[in-house]
Amino acid sequence: MLKQIAFFKEAVKNIKTSGSVMPSSRFLIKKMLRNIDFSKDLILVEFGPANGIITSEILKRMSANSKLICFEINPVFYQFLTENIKDERVIILQESAENISLELEKKGIKEIDFCISSLPLAMMPKEVCEKIIKNTIKVLKPNSGFVQYQYSLQYYKPLKNLFNKKNIRLNFVFLNFPPAFIYNCEKK
Ligand SMILES: C[S@@+](CC[C@H](N)C(=O)[O-])C[C@H]1O[C@@H](n2cnc3c(N)ncnc32)[C@H](O)[C@@H]1O
Repeated sequence: MLKQIAFFKEAVKNIKTSGSVMPSSRFLIKKMLRNIDFSKDLILVEFGPANGIITSEILKRMSANSKLICFEINPVFYQFLTENIKDERVIILQESAENISLELEKKGIKEIDFCISSLPLAMMPKEVCEKIIKNTIKVLKPNSGFVQYQYSLQYYKPLKNLFNKKNIRLNFVFLNFPPAFIYNCEKK
């Protein structure tokens, strides 16, 4: 994976879009992925893979016929991912998460089973976040999920509203720097 120091430098340089200078801990990643049934063939989307720390854990768990489509806007992280992840099950796009429905349509994908996001929603413009979540809900299968971590509860209310108020559960992971909240959202 991208060396810690290189990740740190790139994240600091782009703090507004990276949202953090430390990659997620294994405790956070484990909790983020625990509601996904990896025994099935799945179509998954990841937003903001950066150095691929969550991506590699998704790939370890995914079945041979599953697919993962990653959206990463940072050119340095994108280049690192394309050079280092050699796996036929993955498509890495240098695209904003906003374009999820458009990009999936181009690939002939109508629906997805789960979206795993580490986007820094609390630091992004409100209208961009809303567009990302609405476009993601459009392509999620009924009863499928969206999981997102955040360092504050700032985006809890907007996310709750977008997911019909009751279809959202909160978790907390202390063993991460900084400690993080996990939002588990379900499309009904
Ligand atoms: C907090 S970092 C996530 C790092 C890594 N996934 C982890 O959990 O350690 C957020 C990532 O989201 C990316 N990002 C920010 N806005 C984005 C957008 N609109 N679309 C896709 N990726 C975006 C940033 O470039 C950065 O790599």
